[in-house]
Amino acid sequence: MEVLRDRASSREFSSDTLPVQTLSNLLWAAWGINRPESGKRTAPSAVNRQEMDVYVITAEGVFLYDATIHALIPVLTEDIRALAGIQDYVKDAPVNLVYVSDLSKMGNAEENQKLMTSFANTGFIAQNVYLYCASEGLATVIRGMIDKPALEAAMKLRPEQKVILAQTVGYPGKTD
Ligand SMILES: Cc1cc2nc3c(=O)[nH]c(=O)nc-3n(C[C@H](O)[C@H](O)[C@H](O)COP(=O)(O)O)c2cc1C
Repeated sequence: MEVLRDRASSREFSSDTLPVQTLSNLLWAAWGINRPESGKRTAPSAVNRQEMDVYVITAEGVFLYDATIHALIPVLTEDIRALAGIQDYVKDAPVNLVYVSDLSKMGNAEENQKLMTSFANTGFIAQNVYLYCASEGLATVIRGMIDKPALEAAMKLRPEQKVILAQTVGYPGKTD
């Protein structure tokens, strides 16, 4: 009841970085494996396709969350935060999660159908992040306002990988 009471979007972030344990917990809450015997996750996914990937964009670069080993895999070492969204606060916040669908894991449906399913699946992951942030006093906002072609190019995604939404996370406050 408390985290539901405190869940909110916020667009003012301090530039303070998240402790590694907090980032670890955030990612597990988002899309971690909570049933190792089946490999199922903290969020549902249609037909258990698990087509969503969570990428983490920080000042240090771009990382892929690998839930099977609960680790961040380095993808790029550039700071591309300015491309993670078109709003000003995005580039200064310490963490932007980017929810990416791998359409190649979704069978033979039409691309639009796959994208609709991935938007729904992303909603559950994003809400997990909202509730974790509420529990930890972190600020967060889910975002659709993204120049997706520019971000997909900067992240060097494969053509079948599509950015669905992104979510900014950090401590509440103002960047300098
Ligand atoms: C699918 C979706 C896309 C959104 N995109 C953005 C966005 O690009 N930028 C932003 O600042 N807020 C975005 N929001 C956050 C909403 O503006 C916010 O949830 C709404 O104002 C209600 O506020 P609350 O989350 O505090 O209840 C988005 C929300 C959803 C569900």
